[in-house]
Parts: sequence; structure tokens; C-alpha cells
Amino acid sequence: MGTRHPDFDNAIIFEHPLIQHKLTWMRDQSTGFRPFRALIAQIAGLMVFEVTRNFPTEDVTVTTPMEQTTGKRLSTTITVVPVLRAGLGMAEGILEVMPEARVGHLGMARNEQTLEPTVYLKKLPAAMSEGPVILVDPMLATGGSASEAAALLKQAGAKDLSMICLVAAPEGVRRMNRDHPDVTVHAAAIDRQLDDKGYICPGLGDAGDRMYGTV
Ligand code: PRP
Ligand code: URA
Repeated sequence: MGTRHPDFDNAIIFEHPLIQHKLTWMRDQSTGFRPFRALIAQIAGLMVFEVTRNFPTEDVTVTTPMEQTTGKRLSTTITVVPVLRAGLGMAEGILEVMPEARVGHLGMARNEQTLEPTVYLKKLPAAMSEGPVILVDPMLATGGSASEAAALLKQAGAKDLSMICLVAAPEGVRRMNRDHPDVTVHAAAIDRQLDDKGYICPGLGDAGDRMYGTV
């Protein structure tokens, strides 16, 4: 469903019509927080199909009402880590289709002046080295938050790390490539640029505020 971006080796972009359709509703400033929250979860649920494409499975025997057969089950521990606040909405959509995942939380707030992230919460499952870890945050702007989040997850043991975001700026994708070239960034769009306040243009505004109605 996703394709490698021609200009960014570390990014996979989703040009799927359904994802682009939903993203356009999210960009629209007249879309209120209730549909915004529903849409962010739906898009994340669709994107997770690509991210999990190579996750290992094992054969298991099950008995259907008709006979015994062999099926497949995921054979790895999966960890989803949303960055608060806005990552929570995406995590909800991912857990809807992959309830097997365990969840870690990273609370991070970007300082409006310096654009540097501050970590205010870190609650991660044990043994982060077991299986793939998916970092989730809809907005990849300067990349400061994502880079710090990836570093914290690696410190906690994560080895197989990927990221799902919704809208990225070229600056953020480049920053991730510089700091964490091993982490593939999955995005619905890479937008034109950041403005002088570090907002993505055209973007969709402040994702956390739009999601929770705190604008
Ligand atoms: C937003 C967003 C990212 C960060 C991206 O969160 O969800 O975490 O900004 O910006 P960066 O790439 O320049 O670091 P914010 O700090 O606004 O917190 P919120 O979700 O609580 O509103
Ligand atoms: N955080 C957001 O929520 N939106 C942006 O455009 C940039 C950072």
C-alpha cells in the first residue's frame, strides 16, 4: 500500500485514495474534533497494515466447526508507543486492528519558543528488545520530538523500531534520517515546509489541539 519516497530513502508514503481522502478531511479547518479524532484513528488503522507487513507468524492448528486446519498467528511481541497527546488518537486506531500489541507512553511537549521537546512522562513495557516497536505521532515537524522519542526507545532496548506519522515536514524526515537512519518513517504526506513557528505547511494545524478541542 505504501511506496518508498523518491527523495527520502527513510520514508514510505501512502498514496492510497482512502488515506488521502481522509487526510484531506483532517486538513480542512472546518472539520471539528469529533470527526478529526475518528479520522486519525481510521488512517492509523489503515497504515498499520503496511508497517506490519513483514511481522513474523507461526503455524497453529485450529479446529473449525467443520475440521482441523492450520492457520497463522503473529509470533512476536509487538509494542506501540504513542507520543502524547496527539499520538494517542493514532494508537487507538492501531489497537483496534492489532489488540495484541502492548502499549508504552511517552509524554512530550514542544517548547513553543525553542521548539525543543520536554519529556514529562515515560512509561514503557519491560524488555523492549523483544519484537518490533512502533513509534506513533501524527506530526513530524522539526523532528526534535521524534528523534528524542526514538533515542529513549533505543535506550530502553528497542532494536526493531519504525515510526507512523500522518504529516511530515521535509526537515523532520531529514532529521530522522540523520539521527536514526535505521528507523523507517511511514507518513500519509510529506508537506512543503515548516513556517517560522515550526508548524507544518500546509499541514493541519496543531494536531493535539484539534483532536481534543483545546484550540
Ligand atoms: C506536536 C506533535 C509532535 C511534535 C512535533 O506535539 O504531536 O509531538 O509537536 O513537533 P517537532 O517535530 O518539531 O518536535 P506538541 O508538542 O504540540 O504536544 P501536544 O500533542 O500535547 O499538543
Ligand atoms: N505540531 C503540530 O501539532 N502541528 C504542526 O504543524 C507542528 C507541530
